[in-house]
Amino acid sequence: MKILHIDASSKFHQWSNSRALGRFFLEELQKGGVDIEVDYLDVTADIQPHVSADFVQATYTPEDQRTAQMREVLAASDAMCQRVMEADALVCAMPMYNWTIPSTFKTFIDTIIRTGVTYDLLPDGTTVGKLGDKKVIFITTRGADLREGSPYSAMDAMTPVLKASFAFIGVDTPQFVDAQPLQFTAAEEREAALVRAHAELSHLASQWAIAWDTSAVLL
Ligand SMILES: Cc1cc2nc3c(=O)[nH]c(=O)nc-3n(C[C@H](O)[C@H](O)[C@H](O)COP(=O)(O)O)c2cc1C
Repeated sequence: MKILHIDASSKFHQWSNSRALGRFFLEELQKGGVDIEVDYLDVTADIQPHVSADFVQATYTPEDQRTAQMREVLAASDAMCQRVMEADALVCAMPMYNWTIPSTFKTFIDTIIRTGVTYDLLPDGTTVGKLGDKKVIFITTRGADLREGSPYSAMDAMTPVLKASFAFIGVDTPQFVDAQPLQFTAAEEREAALVRAHAELSHLASQWAIAWDTSAVLL
């Protein structure tokens, strides 16, 4: 299974919970017998550019009408889309920043949502996403507790943006493991949040192992 493993925490490896949880998930897959090939992307080191006027013009110009300069503008995005399309699965680990996704992950999304590449625009104006065959998991870490019933539950602007942007490119049922609360609470609660996240990740890794085993047999 080829996995595009993405980290988006601005913290260094040894201090980041989301980075540790992402690594844990991959280890659990391996323990479950899944043969994984990892393509690693750290969007805080390999920062994708903001959408520019040149990018907009180039991306909305039909491919056969693009100038050499437009092709050059799109080259990095083309390459990133190829990495996404070549993966069987995306494992995306990220913290919540100011109630939503890190801006580095947002520019990654802006880089990979491309007409004719990751989604098709049909003559009647409707669109069809092209990532429908991929498994996608979002492992998120949050300082506060945003679970249902918590006073912060209405503040989650992270889950909707991830669901909407990936649904547009064909990922209808992404999986989420949200580790929370990891900061604004007592140490015991933080530990309990990590125990819950590890248990959920182990469970999903075993599900992925079964699904992958079955699809490998069918090939
Ligand atoms: C700049 C910044 C903004 C943050 N904003 C929020 C927030 O809006 N809500 C929240 O619950 N936690 C917030 N946090 C806390 C982080 O989401 C939390 O500590 C998370 O566990 C960090 O993950 P990491 O260890 O992988 O970096 C913020 C942290 C930072 C550094």
